[in-house]
Amino acid sequence: MIKRYLFILLIFFSISASAQNVLIAYFSHCGENFGVGNIEEGNTAKVAKIIAKETGGTLFEIVPEKPYPLDSYERTCAISIEELTNKARPAILNKVPNFDQYDIIFIGYPIWWNDAPMIIYTFLEEYDFSKKTVIPFSTSASKDVKRVEYKVAQAANAEYVRNGINIIGKLAQFRTYEAEEIIHNWIYTFGTFNMKNE
Ligand SMILES: Cc1cc2nc3c(=O)[nH]c(=O)nc-3n(C[C@H](O)[C@H](O)[C@H](O)COP(=O)(O)O)c2cc1C
Repeated sequence: MIKRYLFILLIFFSISASAQNVLIAYFSHCGENFGVGNIEEGNTAKVAKIIAKETGGTLFEIVPEKPYPLDSYERTCAISIEELTNKARPAILNKVPNFDQYDIIFIGYPIWWNDAPMIIYTFLEEYDFSKKTVIPFSTSASKDVKRVEYKVAQAANAEYVRNGINIIGKLAQFRTYEAEEIIHNWIYTFGTFNMKNE
């Protein structure tokens, strides 16, 4: 009996302590968006929040210094194509508080032109991931989208990389319950969050 209680206590402490070292950093664009109309919360933001609920991790929204237009999908397209062509590194307005405290970092982004938005590369170049576990996730319009997790992981130069996931934007936006189930099953494959000691 005592052994059983000790075991439960051990599990409790390992989960609650580990949640503190999980960061969910994401970029997401709301307003006029592809296939979902004018949205108040971006598709990737929705996924990031589900991951935060699943893991108990801390959310960090990557906010561009120069916001992308909220009222025009076409203008967002034009700006982002130019950034992609020039391999731009759009500036980020905010900084992750206490970055050092995190061991496991989820990095989320919408797929833009078969790539991550350039601001994600700004983020990856601004911090040192060499002792971190990185888990990329994305949302996209198409289910046959080119996955760029490998590219993102390489740019992060992380110590460990875990299999990422791509969720269809419309599903995240309008069928959140289904997205929750997919994300739950994906997170479950990681076991505990103390992944470095696996
Ligand atoms: C500038 C831009 C480029 C996009 N490029 C692609 C693409 O190459 N492939 C795709 O499947 N979806 C593409 N999309 C759709 C987004 O990936 C999709 O709507 C995503 O869920 C948006 O996430 P967000 O609301 O978090 O920004 C693009 C959207 C925008 C605004």
